Amino acid sequence: MSHVEHSSGQQDTGRQEAEQVELTDKGKRTIWTWASVIAVGGFLFGYDTGVISGALLFIKTDFHLSSTEQGAVVSLLLLGAMVGALGEGRVADSLGRRKVLALVGVIFLIGTAIAVFATGYVMLLVGRVVLGLAVGSASALVPTYLGELAPAQVRGRVLTLNQLMITIGIMVAYLVNLAFSSVQSWRGMFAVGAIPAIVILLGALIMIPESPAWLLTNDHTDKAQKVYRRIAGDEDGGQQLLEARQQEMEEEQHKSGEKVGWRGLFNKAVRPALVVGVVLAALQQFGGINTIIYYAPTIMQKTGLTASNSIYYAVAVGVINLLMTIVSLWVVGRMGRRKLLLISMSVMLVALAVMGLSFVASWGSVLSLVFMVLYIAGFAVGMGPLFWVLIGEIFPPNASATGSGAATAVNWASNLIVSQVFLTVVTTIGLGQTFWCFAVICVFALFFIGKYVPETKDRDFPEIDEDMQHRFGREAAPQEAESPSSS
Ligand code: GLC
Repeated sequence: MSHVEHSSGQQDTGRQEAEQVELTDKGKRTIWTWASVIAVGGFLFGYDTGVISGALLFIKTDFHLSSTEQGAVVSLLLLGAMVGALGEGRVADSLGRRKVLALVGVIFLIGTAIAVFATGYVMLLVGRVVLGLAVGSASALVPTYLGELAPAQVRGRVLTLNQLMITIGIMVAYLVNLAFSSVQSWRGMFAVGAIPAIVILLGALIMIPESPAWLLTNDHTDKAQKVYRRIAGDEDGGQQLLEARQQEMEEEQHKSGEKVGWRGLFNKAVRPALVVGVVLAALQQFGGINTIIYYAPTIMQKTGLTASNSIYYAVAVGVINLLMTIVSLWVVGRMGRRKLLLISMSVMLVALAVMGLSFVASWGSVLSLVFMVLYIAGFAVGMGPLFWVLIGEIFPPNASATGSGAATAVNWASNLIVSQVFLTVVTTIGLGQTFWCFAVICVFALFFIGKYVPETKDRDFPEIDEDMQHRFGREAAPQEAESPSSS
């Protein structure tokens, strides 16, 4: 294919060329089918993190667990996830994406089996760690795999499928909790997670091709060509996609040099992206979202509800989370990321402040639920999905895998800290007061986003980078901006 020339004589970039390729309907159907199966990884992320909320009510009576022990059941999965997210990149680079997806399916099955047949508390903890390894690997692998399979013209929409599937996974987990709560079977709740794990495993083994970008990097040009042909739906389009990707790779190599390792993330050029990615990762979790996602029934029990009624309330949380994520997908194409993030954090701030008051002043379960729902809505419309979108956009291509891996690991680590200490802090300072602490974090988040987070919508990397460097250079040295991350 000859490179398309503009009237000015300027040559198109590889990305622009790829965007000009017409995908046939058949091609589109193929890519959406593959993407839906890969995104089951997101579903499992949501399912295995969400299912604990209802299961915990029955586990704690079965195994006679203290607050700290309950915290450990929730958070050991997160510890495993952190390790999984950190290790995934390397394994997926050497083995290929497809094999790692199959592996993730197998680990999910093993973890599920250990948890379902746990004879005691310690065995349950082991099961949770193993499940965590799978969840963490999936959280890092799915966005990369989707991003590499989907051609530019559908990439944005295909990528948002991930957060959508996470929230669907949480929602289904709540419904499964509800179904099994009448028979009080937490084992049944865990067991259902085996079904999507089997879907992933079979999908990886018999249906989904290896990522063509990975194939090209590893010199399997023939195989990559075949995959592109199926994505485009015809011979010509496939050839064009292949050549466009080859050109893109050359440009990336030329612009950003060799791939950077962990240490390279601290290079002056990459540091602002690292600070934005890592601080956003921490803020997304320290705003307290998963205390609601994981402990909503436990919290509602404190307002005087029974176990199964509390699970009903959790279902309401799941529905709002899902619906507002859908709204977000629709709004994000129209509104800038910064604006949406600021609106999101403001709504969360107000909801947390009033929710705290509702617990302190004992306004009752209905009012508490109203503000809890408002809080979830605020999160789901912005901070929830946008963190995952932004970490795919702010790093230079050669630092993208490592950078988003680091941000993902910090996200899990922060999640771990918040979930582990939540119940203990609640016992010490009170539920309402704990929510006020999250409100303070939201104030800080508003400041950080306002000052340092670049706009990424409709911009390519050089424009994003310029905005970001400008924000750090003119208003503060990057070192100064790093201090908030330690809060
Ligand atoms: C985001 C968060 C995750 C949370 C979920 C809730 O994906 O990263 O921790 O459980 O949103 O919808």
